[in-house]
Amino acid sequence: MNNLPPQNLSTTDIGQGRPLVFLHGFPFSRAVWQPQVDAFRSTHRVIAPDLMGFGDSEPQPGPITMARQAAEVHALLQHLGTGPVFLIGHSMGGYVALAFAQQFPGMLHGLVLVSTQSGPDSAEAATGRRTTAAKVLAEGAHVVIDAMAPKLCAASQPDAGRAAQVRALMATARPEGMIGALLGMAERPDATPLLAQIAVPTLILTGAEDALIATAESAKLARAIPGAQLQVIAQAGHLVAFEQPAEFNRLLGDWLNQIRPDAPH
Ligand code: MLT
Repeated sequence: MNNLPPQNLSTTDIGQGRPLVFLHGFPFSRAVWQPQVDAFRSTHRVIAPDLMGFGDSEPQPGPITMARQAAEVHALLQHLGTGPVFLIGHSMGGYVALAFAQQFPGMLHGLVLVSTQSGPDSAEAATGRRTTAAKVLAEGAHVVIDAMAPKLCAASQPDAGRAAQVRALMATARPEGMIGALLGMAERPDATPLLAQIAVPTLILTGAEDALIATAESAKLARAIPGAQLQVIAQAGHLVAFEQPAEFNRLLGDWLNQIRPDAPH
């Protein structure tokens, strides 16, 4: 893998062909996409940045809004000279992908929204995030890791080895990065009004057992985005791409193959 540090984001950039850009969820890093990097690097240019504050990308003080993350991703793509891309966002990465679609629609060939939602936080959820951010500041990153770890994978598929891998992936997150992202997610705007204007091919993927963002949220996205396709993967929870990589990659690959290389965007 290439480690190229352009602008503010460290990134993987490997392979040749139509560019796929993978945006990770909270509190992960590009490492969570390794099964997708391995699967698609022989047929596509695969770009997977560490979002600001995660992995090797430095945190910044204050809330890191989804719009700010999207602008950083855009700066990265300008730096790499990709032209329009297929943007794949998981959960928080999906919030960033929607902010990107709003700000930079001409940079999209297609959009893949994975286990995510368009609505904002309720007042209660936003307060909860701010409380969690204060606890992370006082006690450290384990506050988030301990709370999220039991909810990330399908309850019907217990696997101690995988649970340990997932904890290890989260353990790279720094408290400052978590805090910026929590405060940024708490103030994210409602992206629902944008959905009807999305004019590129869109795939919605989710796990049937997602305990963090209900599968119904994906169905809502699919209804609101013109022509969007919805795929619900069985025996998978919130980390669907990591839990069921073969099925996830098959569905993503089949969808990509349906889109002509010269399709207008
Ligand atoms: C994520 O997986 O990115 C988070 O669960 C998203 C969120 O907390 O809203």
